[in-house]
Amino acid sequence: MALRGWAGLGARRGRRLDDRRPSAVAFDGLSEPVALDAAGIDGVVAAFRDAALRAIDAGFDVLELHGAHGYLLHQFLSPLSNLRDDEYGGTLENRARLLLRIIEEVRAVSGDAPLLVRISATDHAEGGFTAEEAATVADWATARGADLIDVSSGGLVAHQRITVGPGYQVPLAAAIRRGGRVPASAVGLITAAEQAEQVLRDGAADAIFAGREWLRDPHFGLRAAHELGAEIDYWPPQYLRARWR
Ligand SMILES: Cc1cc2nc3c(=O)[nH]c(=O)nc-3n(C[C@H](O)[C@H](O)[C@H](O)COP(=O)(O)O)c2cc1C
Repeated sequence: MALRGWAGLGARRGRRLDDRRPSAVAFDGLSEPVALDAAGIDGVVAAFRDAALRAIDAGFDVLELHGAHGYLLHQFLSPLSNLRDDEYGGTLENRARLLLRIIEEVRAVSGDAPLLVRISATDHAEGGFTAEEAATVADWATARGADLIDVSSGGLVAHQRITVGPGYQVPLAAAIRRGGRVPASAVGLITAAEQAEQVLRDGAADAIFAGREWLRDPHFGLRAAHELGAEIDYWPPQYLRARWR
């Protein structure tokens, strides 16, 4: 089976934490990882809490937990990567336990900062994490203090089959949001102001995020506001003569 790597938490006691996973299941071509034991799982929870404290200390206004794209928390959520037979594997409740513990710990130290949780709402692969499961996890995450579920998809297995096109993940956000019961955002090939506005108007998501359009045009937000006729109080003084009128 093929799993994706995840960003390391650093070296500790001579062994890197980033070769530890829910189960000893290797991503294509990579060496076999070590399954986390109970102490290792507690260490991951503590590392997330410490990272949140550092982020707050550094002045960040918003925190986001990454539970998507094949990183560790996603590996726990998916039955393709989580083969454990303890309280962290098997049932959905067990597979979600680590994410929910981390949400509680981070919420407890993050004050008023909004807490976002990015999830992959499907693995795009047979036998993987599903949108239905994701909706249930989103409910639990919100009940524990997540303010917004940032709905992405995929990234866990190399054999995923994704059909990519404009707004391709918006239906997943709508499935998580379920008419406003759970705050959810949409991301993925949302590249134009009117397209983004339509997602919100349709009630498919509470917010939209964009990645590549911001790389192409760092002033995408200013352009979108202008195209939608919205006032946006951002223009740096040295740019004022260049603003749209
Ligand atoms: C160059 C690049 C780097 C990215 N890095 C990350 C990342 O570190 N973490 C993450 O969650 N998503 C990452 N993404 C995915 C984006 O956050 C976003 O979900 C994805 O690109 C789909 O949205 P878009 O079509 O608006 O770009 C990256 C995307 C690109 C193009």
